[in-house]
Amino acid sequence: MAQEPILKLLNIETYYGPIMAIRGVSLEVPEGAIVTVLGANGAGKTTILKTICGVMDPQKGSVIFEGREIQKMDPDKVMRLGIGHVPEGRETFPFLTVRENLMMGAYTRRDRDGIAKDIDLVFDYFPRLKEREAQPVGSMSGGEQQMLAIGRALMGRPKLLLLDEPSLGLSPKLVKDIFEIVVRINKEQGTTILLVEQNANVALHTAHFGYVLEVGRIVMEDTCERLLEKDDIKEFYLGQKEEGVRGKRRWKKRKTWR
Ligand SMILES: Nc1ncnc2c1ncn2[C@@H]1O[C@H](COP(=O)(O)OP(=O)(O)OP(=O)(O)O)[C@@H](O)[C@H]1O
Ligand SMILES: [Mg+2]
Repeated sequence: MAQEPILKLLNIETYYGPIMAIRGVSLEVPEGAIVTVLGANGAGKTTILKTICGVMDPQKGSVIFEGREIQKMDPDKVMRLGIGHVPEGRETFPFLTVRENLMMGAYTRRDRDGIAKDIDLVFDYFPRLKEREAQPVGSMSGGEQQMLAIGRALMGRPKLLLLDEPSLGLSPKLVKDIFEIVVRINKEQGTTILLVEQNANVALHTAHFGYVLEVGRIVMEDTCERLLEKDDIKEFYLGQKEEGVRGKRRWKKRKTWR
């Protein structure tokens, strides 16, 4: 029998006052996998992550982590269970140094040796942070702050890491660098990752499985390999024009004639 997924959402409905932002979402994240949820502005990506990490309570449905229902739990409890959240816009503390920000991510821990080891681990993944260890974070670039936000979440030793649009506002080169590290963290630490992204190209080339979210509903789900081949995804999420898609189809056809 297949292993139970580490995270399961069942028919989640989440509201902002009278506005229904998440309209019955179910999804699964297998242990050790990278799963992505793709969606345009306002689709509900951030709301899904907030619902998982306890910042928002769903009106209906369940969030099941390691077989346990957690949808009514407070965020600090959820974090203690092993869910790390890298929020949209990073939310680092501008007046604290890099090291102090990292320590904030370990506030639930008492194992000093383990904390010191994990700071080294974060510096190993992000050498740029080591160089800026004593610098207040407010003066750092967007890319450095993204690295710090991921590093801070790692300081809680998460089993599951929730990443909210890490590519936002970064240059293509930085996006590539950061996603390479995300893949290394997944492989080397065995951390399961749920990544929400508007940047379908990078997300589909990073994750194993993907869901497409439109106006609070999942409209498509498949392996990323297969999603990358779908015409709808090419046209609406990868910005490949109809003409290009047609051209590719023709080329494929020709190939089979040989
Ligand atoms: N604080 C809020 N009050 C009322 N409505 C909200 C609030 N935050 C989000 N919404 C609405 O909920 C829906 C989902 O928003 P959400 O932020 O989850 O989308 P998103 O997919 O993360 O978008 P983006 O790509 O812009 O970050 C949107 O229609 C949005 O307008
Ligand atoms: Mg968002």
